[in-house]
Amino acid sequence: MAEMAIATEDLVALLRWYIDQGVDEAIDEEQVDRFAVPPPAPAAPAAAAARASSTRPAAPTPPRSPVPSPVTRAPVPIESPQLVEDARALAESCNTLAELEAAVRAFEGCALKRTAKNTVFADGTPGAPVMIVGEAPGGDEDRLGKPFVGVSGQLMDRMMAAIGLTRDGGFYITNILFWRPPGNRTPTVAEQAMCLAFTRRHIELARPKVLILAGGTSVKAVLDTTEGITRMRGKWVSYRLGDGTELPTMPTFHPAYLLRTPASKRLSWLDLLAVDKKLKELTA
Ligand code: URA
Repeated sequence: MAEMAIATEDLVALLRWYIDQGVDEAIDEEQVDRFAVPPPAPAAPAAAAARASSTRPAAPTPPRSPVPSPVTRAPVPIESPQLVEDARALAESCNTLAELEAAVRAFEGCALKRTAKNTVFADGTPGAPVMIVGEAPGGDEDRLGKPFVGVSGQLMDRMMAAIGLTRDGGFYITNILFWRPPGNRTPTVAEQAMCLAFTRRHIELARPKVLILAGGTSVKAVLDTTEGITRMRGKWVSYRLGDGTELPTMPTFHPAYLLRTPASKRLSWLDLLAVDKKLKELTA
C-alpha cells in the first residue's frame, strides 16, 4: 500500500496541539516512570521533615511494564493540610538559606516535585539589596534548575541592568513555586500553600532591602490579597517579616506579560525607577 504523505501544515498543527495540551518536552532516551516511588529523602534538618515524608501513604513499587496501566500505578500523594503544616514547621526550623535550600530539595510533600526535572530554588546573590519573587519555573527553568533563565528572565535581567542591578551582586531571584507545574497548569491551593511556606521563610532569611513581586499570582500569594496586578503595580506596600520588620515591596508586571504587551513596559520602567530611588534613600 502506498504511504500517504502528511502535509507539513498538518504536522505543525499537531505539534501546536501538543504544546497547547502541555506536551512541550522531548522525551528522554530512557522511559521515566514519574509515578514510581521516589528514593527516600535525605535526613532533613527538623523532625517535621520526617513527618512530611511519612504522612504520605506507603506506595507499593509499581511493576515495570512498558505502558503502566492506571490500576498498576502507585498512588500520587494525597494533599493533606498536614503537609502544609509540615512545610511551615520545616521552613521555620531553617536558620540559613543553605538550610532552607536543603530542606526544600528534600521535601517530598509537594506533588509538583514528582513531574519536575529539577528543583528551582534561587539564583543571583543571596543577601543582595533586591529580592525578586516570580511565579513558577517554566520549561527552561525546569531543565536548567534556575529561575528566570528563559526569554522572560532575559527581559527581567535587561530591565534590572537598566537600574544598575545584575544577578552578580545586585539581586537575588526566586519564585513562589519551586517546581514546574506539569504543562504549566495552575497549581492547586495546597501546592501553592506548601511552597509559599518556604518562600515566606526564604524572604526572611534573604532579608533584602527591597522586595519586588513579579506578576499577579506572586502578588496575590505573598501579600495574601485578591486585588489584581493592574491596581497593585507601581505602589509601595509593606510586607511584614516574622520579626515585625516592614519590608518595602513593589508589585510589578510579570516580564512574560510585558513580552505579550510591550506598551506596558513604560509602566514597569516607572516601577523600577521607584525601586532605584528607594534603594538610594535606604542606603544614603
Ligand atoms: N516565570 C516565572 O515566574 N518564573 C520563572 O522562573 C520563569 C518564568
